[in-house]
Amino acid sequence: MYSQEFQNSIKLVEAAREKNIALEPQRMTAEQKEALLAQYHPDYKKDEFRELKIGPNKGDMVPTELAEILQAHSRITPEDVDLENPDYVADVLVIGGGGAGASAAIEANEAGADVLLVTELRMGDANTMMAEGGIQAADKPNDSPAIHFVDAFGGGHYAAKRELLRKLVCDAPEAIQWLNELGVEFDKDENGTMITTHGGGTSRKRMHAAKDYSGAEIMRTLRDEVLNRDIQVVDFTAAIELILDDKGKAAGAVLMNMETGDLMVAKAKTVIIATGGAGRMHYQGFPTSNHYGATADGLVLGYRVGAKLLYAETLQYHPTGAAYPVQIFGALVTEKVRSLGAKLVNVNGEVFMHPLETRDVTAASIIRECSTRENGVDTGNGKAVWLDTPMIEAIGGEGTIEARIPAMMRMFGQYGIDIRKEPILVYPTLHYQNGGLDINDNCMSTCVDNLFVAGEAVGGIHGKNRLMGNSLLDIIVFGRSAGKNAAAVAANTEVGKLTLSHIEKFESEIAGAGIETDTVSPKLLPNYTNQTSI
Ligand code: FUM
Repeated sequence: MYSQEFQNSIKLVEAAREKNIALEPQRMTAEQKEALLAQYHPDYKKDEFRELKIGPNKGDMVPTELAEILQAHSRITPEDVDLENPDYVADVLVIGGGGAGASAAIEANEAGADVLLVTELRMGDANTMMAEGGIQAADKPNDSPAIHFVDAFGGGHYAAKRELLRKLVCDAPEAIQWLNELGVEFDKDENGTMITTHGGGTSRKRMHAAKDYSGAEIMRTLRDEVLNRDIQVVDFTAAIELILDDKGKAAGAVLMNMETGDLMVAKAKTVIIATGGAGRMHYQGFPTSNHYGATADGLVLGYRVGAKLLYAETLQYHPTGAAYPVQIFGALVTEKVRSLGAKLVNVNGEVFMHPLETRDVTAASIIRECSTRENGVDTGNGKAVWLDTPMIEAIGGEGTIEARIPAMMRMFGQYGIDIRKEPILVYPTLHYQNGGLDINDNCMSTCVDNLFVAGEAVGGIHGKNRLMGNSLLDIIVFGRSAGKNAAAVAANTEVGKLTLSHIEKFESEIAGAGIETDTVSPKLLPNYTNQTSI
């Protein structure tokens, strides 16, 4: 239930609803989009970026907060650990317990490798679990991987690494089949055919979903599979430094128990970074839809041993973060709400854009509406626009919301807002790290042998903007591929002498570049208390 100060605006939204449903807003031209992004998208705010002075991406501009942790001190010195007596020995070490890490662990295990999975929180405490709208795959008769490629390539500003995007779209149908066979309960019609919808920037309906908790359903299934296979999982244990061998190959990691701070050594023939995203870095002060551990740790681990980053300067601000009430500020309001027919309208009840432009364009458009155009609704905690959810039932019939987006209904229902009858307030929220570690199409780092990367820690799959549903897809496609390739390489690897000499090398680069910092990284968890984090 909204308080009185919202009611005047809600009346305008209601009065315009019928007309707005019938309205077919124009798509923007390429030139209009470029101009909009340049003026309003956070990635274009030059003063929020800093040049890297050291490391493989020296000279590149990255978000200021990311530069801080990439050019920070290690949490340890080499003397702190005993590399001669590892606590764990495995063929494949997987760092990260989300969808990419779990998929990698399953496939490496399937290939016969001895797998160790470590995760700083618990398996499933990851962005995968929080993904809502669905997973793309071109598996309907009117669609093809080629059409999927064209949609994603354009949506990513033609910047995706073609070989990675090709793999993503070509392996997608089989990824859905794999998940289905593992037991994911995808939405299906009465004949058993999977129901698919549009997302922003898709020319075909190829979004497969499990209502609006698709990620939770996928993660549930993957976690069960990891546990059923008796893969060794060590919870509450973060990787804080990679270990190389004397041939410069990735050969394990220094681990830290998150409760006690105790250090351990894991020795492995290959290492997979699957540490996820960076929403909890709160770039430019944005709220986030991400889980608690999303602090760009994998980028730091990789960068310090010489792995190159690609597109680390591009972030995704999901257009529709919850803007009201404050208890759910920044939480994801799935794009599926717009796929089902809800439109974005301003304080005057006016539709100001096509609801399914790509995310960067939609986010910039909302920011413009709330800033220079002064058409935002004052939430008491900033400005926002309406997402007119009652349109969904007007178009799809009574019961559509409960059937297709029950989690949204419940999230707002907790605060007395019935999204079947009342619109909701939204504003962009930090959602996804487009950039990450640069890999080849076998998922190995372009710079560090035996170091594999999968999931949100990878850069280049999507280019400079990602379409909805291609992230749940990439964690499966690249997670599985990383697992298979890491197992194959491990089978032919003899690990040399373990070393942490890169720490000293990195320290001298910091000193040489005149960087003065007290920051240590990886960050591991956000610090919301002003106290020193562990
Ligand atoms: O809007 C969403 O449901 C988010 C999906 C995604 O990021 O792929």
